[in-house]
Amino acid sequence: MTFSLAASHAKGKFATDKIFGASGAAAQATAKYGKDKVVNATIGAFMDDQETLACIPTVEKVLRNLPINEIISYAPIAGLPSFLEAAVNLTFADNKPDAYIDAVATAGGSGVLHHAIWNYSEIGDTVITSDWYWGPYEVLCEDALRKLDTFVLFDEKLNFNINSFADKVSSLLEKQDNLIVILNAPAHNPTGYSLTDSEWDQVIQVCKEQAKNTQKRIVLLVDIAYLDFAGEKNSCRTFLKKFGELPSNILTILAFSMSKGYTMYGQRTGAMIGVSSDKEVMREFVNINQFTSRATWSNINRGAMSLLATVYNDKALLAQVENERNSFYQLIRNRADIFMREAQASGLDMLPYRAGFFLTIPANDPDAVCDKLHDELIYAVPLAKGVRIAVCAVPSTKITGMADKVQRAIQAVGK
Ligand SMILES: Cc1ncc(COP(=O)(O)O)c(C=O)c1O
Repeated sequence: MTFSLAASHAKGKFATDKIFGASGAAAQATAKYGKDKVVNATIGAFMDDQETLACIPTVEKVLRNLPINEIISYAPIAGLPSFLEAAVNLTFADNKPDAYIDAVATAGGSGVLHHAIWNYSEIGDTVITSDWYWGPYEVLCEDALRKLDTFVLFDEKLNFNINSFADKVSSLLEKQDNLIVILNAPAHNPTGYSLTDSEWDQVIQVCKEQAKNTQKRIVLLVDIAYLDFAGEKNSCRTFLKKFGELPSNILTILAFSMSKGYTMYGQRTGAMIGVSSDKEVMREFVNINQFTSRATWSNINRGAMSLLATVYNDKALLAQVENERNSFYQLIRNRADIFMREAQASGLDMLPYRAGFFLTIPANDPDAVCDKLHDELIYAVPLAKGVRIAVCAVPSTKITGMADKVQRAIQAVGK
């Protein structure tokens, strides 16, 4: 036993991140063989066709033109009111549900997850998400002394597995009174799946059924990190309207993030948007989460909040940002389309991709498949049950031919 000074709940914590491991290998290969020869499909940020990290040009212009005091001053703990208004309205567009809605600024979407887990589940509780999920959900739960459990995301027809979802929700609510359900949609990381509106209806129906027991409290935590890369603005947001008029023991929390939608990844700016039929629930939502912000990071990045408010309040700027983002979206779309077309032609099974930064190939031994792909200088992220390919980061010229190579790597390692 090595000597440890850590408190009992902190002992042994060690964040191993497969994504950083895989991107380290890609960086080494790039240094050795040159950028042109290497396919780095590990990066979770939009890279343009020159493989350079891209900033939405108008976002850059507005940020650089902010008065310096608007960047360096402290902000209110709950967030700048103009930012919160912008975040709420940009999130819903024309699909605002009939409900009380309020928001608290957070350090990115990760901050939303942190606060929601801390404030809406008991220590020792289990939080649920789908079996394909973004790894940090588990770290966030564990660090807060909660557990993460999963339901099966897809049924045999590769639609949302409502039966598995319903079973998991009901079995957990037999054991605990508070339940947080994390759903990352639309444009799910890692699969690129988006629930259809009727699948959302079914999800909500399951929650409503459970909420008939008024002892129970359900938080639907919808991680919308990729909402701005999920398709046409209003058609990919219609599901948001469904969070209106729900029982008061169901709270919806949307995890708004500026990381992808505004290419502000490192600026750590987001907001938790609460939606409830109960005014008191919303009052409490603002109070307790603001308190947790004070206790966690105090206030967040004022410059990025100001940037969003500035863009939102100027129709011409907003239209420009949306157009520029759309051209990024079209590039990603095109890359994913090439991959899907070629996957079908070469008989490569993949999980259903609708939109977003990533697509996933199921595999029995993802580590072996990723290692095999290194022979072709292709670098992807091995997940527990598949290989994640970041179409956000690989130009279409390098996507061409990739599906076939993945198929051959899978065959070579015997699936
Ligand atoms: C599924 C998912 N949720 C949330 C986030 C949170 O991002 P941030 O904390 O940068 O807003 C990410 C970022 O990669 C993500 O992939």
